[in-house]
Formats: sequence, C-alpha cells, structure tokens
Amino acid sequence: MEVIIAKDRTELAEIAAGIIRAQILAKPNCVLGLATGSTPEETYARLVRYHKEEGLSFAKVTTFNLDEYIGLPPSHEQSYYYFMHDRLFNHVDINEENVHVPMGMAPDPDAFCKWYEEQIEKAGGIDLQLLGIGGDGHIAFNEPGSSLASRTRVKTLTEQTIKDNAELFFGKGKEDEVPKFAITMGVGTILEARRLLLIAFGKRKAKIVKQLIEGPVTSMVTASALQLHPDAIVVIDEEAAAELELKDYYKWVYKQKNAEYQKTLDRLAGR
Ligand code: PGA
Repeated sequence: MEVIIAKDRTELAEIAAGIIRAQILAKPNCVLGLATGSTPEETYARLVRYHKEEGLSFAKVTTFNLDEYIGLPPSHEQSYYYFMHDRLFNHVDINEENVHVPMGMAPDPDAFCKWYEEQIEKAGGIDLQLLGIGGDGHIAFNEPGSSLASRTRVKTLTEQTIKDNAELFFGKGKEDEVPKFAITMGVGTILEARRLLLIAFGKRKAKIVKQLIEGPVTSMVTASALQLHPDAIVVIDEEAAAELELKDYYKWVYKQKNAEYQKTLDRLAGR
C-alpha cells in the first residue's frame, strides 16, 4: 500500500485528481470506479477544471459508481446519481451511455446487482477505483461485518452511517429521511479493480484511517481489505494521518520516491 500524506485537503484533491488524470491520459478509454460523499467533491471539481482548461477528455471513459440508496429516484437531490451529474458528469464530455450508477429504483434489486456485476465484467473490469472511507470503516456501503469476498448486493446501513449521512447531506437530525438500504459493490468486487485510490481528510477520520492502514485485515473495518490489494494508494491529509504509527516513514518513502523519479526524468531528458 502506498500512503501519501498531503499537507491539507487542497493538496490531497490535487494529488487524487492528478492520479485520475494520469489514468485517463494513459488510457483514454479506461474504466473508472467512482465514489460519492463530501471527500471527493474537490477532486471532481479539479477534474472539471482539467476538462475545461486543458481539454482532458472523458469522451471514451466508462464509469461505474460504487453505490446508491434504495428508493431514491435519480432526480432526488440526495441520490448518488444526482450527485455525480451535479459534481462531474454534467460538466465534462462523458457519454451518458458509458455512465453507470446503481439504480435505486430497480424493481428487482437482487437481479439488478447481478446485472451490474456483468456490466463491469463486460467493460473489461475497473482500471482505477476511487474510494472514500466511512466513520465505521466502510468502503462503498460495505458496513462492518461484510464479507471481504462480497459482491454487489443490497446492504442495510448502520445507524452511524445513517447519522453521518444525515448530518452531511440530508440535514442534522433528519435521520428519518436517510434511506436504510443501499445497493453497493462488494469488497470482493472492489478488490478486483486493477488499482485502488482511497482518499480521506480531517480529524474525524484519523482513528479509522489508522485501522485501515495499520490495523489487522478484518471485515469489521472493510477498508482494511485494501491491504490485500497489490496496487492500492491511500491519500490523506495531515489531520487524518495524525494517529499513524509509521507516519514519518510514509512521508520519507514518498519524498525518496519523488526525488528518485525526478532524477530519472532528468536523466532521460539529458539534464
Ligand atoms: P464522506 O463519506 O466522504 O462524506 O466522509 C465517505 C464514505 O462514507 O464512504
């Protein structure tokens, strides 16, 4: 696992958006796995900027979102379909046919989940999967206790997730309005992406980020499954990194790697 500690959330978004941009430039018809929540908002804003200012094109990109609330129509402002269009898709040249967000109104959610898995496979699998982490350690809506081999399915949200999401998106004290069920990619589905990029910032995430990076691999913190992936990058800010035992080492590794990389570039350029 590569751990990158950014000085603040602005630098974090710059690094995350840079990794996604590099993926699109390296493979214009890549398959991106995307996430919702407050964490990726600035990263998406940067991607929109790269599109507008530098012509970064999403025309051949295919996307699969991690999850969606059951019972919310795409037009609902709190639906993840709405979020993605509002923050990213409506502002870039993506082909709507290539956009996939689980259908919260699917009449048969179980059949839909099977179909969603098939679509990911048909697209050739996910090249780069963006992830956030919930206060309870979830990735997507894989709440504590989810099998680390789980596939796309219906999950019942925990009380903490409902509370967190009420505060952030529905309004404080509006827990009753947060749906109790969601369709979510499984941990096993996520682990099949060729590369994982998890981002987190703020004091609120420090404890769980420690468990993600330095705790045991456990279904009680489904994000810890990233430790099993051969190409996982975790980008966090100083606040979220506060409890890491090996914090200085991660910083040192990043610095050394960047210096080496720059030297290689200089050598190739004959400097
Ligand atoms: P957040 O949510 O980005 O709003 O903190 C992350 C998550 O629940 O996965």
